[in-house]
Amino acid sequence: MTLLDGKKVSNDIKDEIKAEVDAMKANGEKVPHLAAVIVGDDGASLTYVGSKVRACERIGFESTLVKMPHTTSELELLKKIKELNTNDDIDGFIIQLPLPPQIDTQKVLMAVDPSKDVDGFHPENFGKMALDMSTFIPATPFGILELLERYDVDTKGKHTVVIGRSHIVGRPMSILMSRRGWPGNSTVTLTHSNTKNISQITTQADIIISALGVPNFLKAEMVKDDVVIIDVGITRVPDEEHPKGYVIRGDVDFEKVSEKASFITPVPGGVGPMTIAMLLKNTLLAREQRRT
Ligand code: GUN
Repeated sequence: MTLLDGKKVSNDIKDEIKAEVDAMKANGEKVPHLAAVIVGDDGASLTYVGSKVRACERIGFESTLVKMPHTTSELELLKKIKELNTNDDIDGFIIQLPLPPQIDTQKVLMAVDPSKDVDGFHPENFGKMALDMSTFIPATPFGILELLERYDVDTKGKHTVVIGRSHIVGRPMSILMSRRGWPGNSTVTLTHSNTKNISQITTQADIIISALGVPNFLKAEMVKDDVVIIDVGITRVPDEEHPKGYVIRGDVDFEKVSEKASFITPVPGGVGPMTIAMLLKNTLLAREQRRT
């Protein structure tokens, strides 16, 4: 079994990006500037956004954190997006999801200038991705592709089973794994909450990408020998013994499933850090595209 070490690979990627930023600085060029908007005070979202901003600092990007109260109206958020769209100093920005219920998420994502949409959530960018055109690929699926590539995982002709059809992970992942090229060229089954007899499908899988958010969902008896496991789950499970009062758990019963797997991502330290690294990569790309 080989551990797909997202922490290590993400650090390698960040070092590669930092080298490019250092070169930009040495040439007297503007460095990439990422802005992140967070609405409300959800603990997990604040943690993720904080990590994104800290990662920017580490590699020499400029960063701006925009915190808005949970009572923010849709109109106020749209106004903020317009400001970020027209602010020439900002190369890319993200709106951390989920948004409070009074705000229409699709409307908000459609208001982001596609050239600054480093999350790749705007329909124009999502459509380009589905059509194999060059664009921003959503950070989590992009990070999974990068992990598969850097560990030389064979995906051609394999049966990839994606669990979960979210717009952020499952749906784009299913599209990307079926694309021509590598990593890709898989035969993809997209499963979700209405899938019947999911074990019958997962036991046929060569590669399983689980983005469900149900701790310990995928058990050893649901997978075959030598399966490749990508665990996207990051659920906070209450744990009094831990100083934070919770522990992070993935979708996969790591202890038992890892005994059968050929490759597996740990949680934490697998897909999570890759998401941040690829957001930085998209921001670097956004800067480069604005320069030319
Ligand atoms: N919420 C959970 N994952 C993500 C992500 O990749 N981007 C944004 N903007 N919000 C998220």
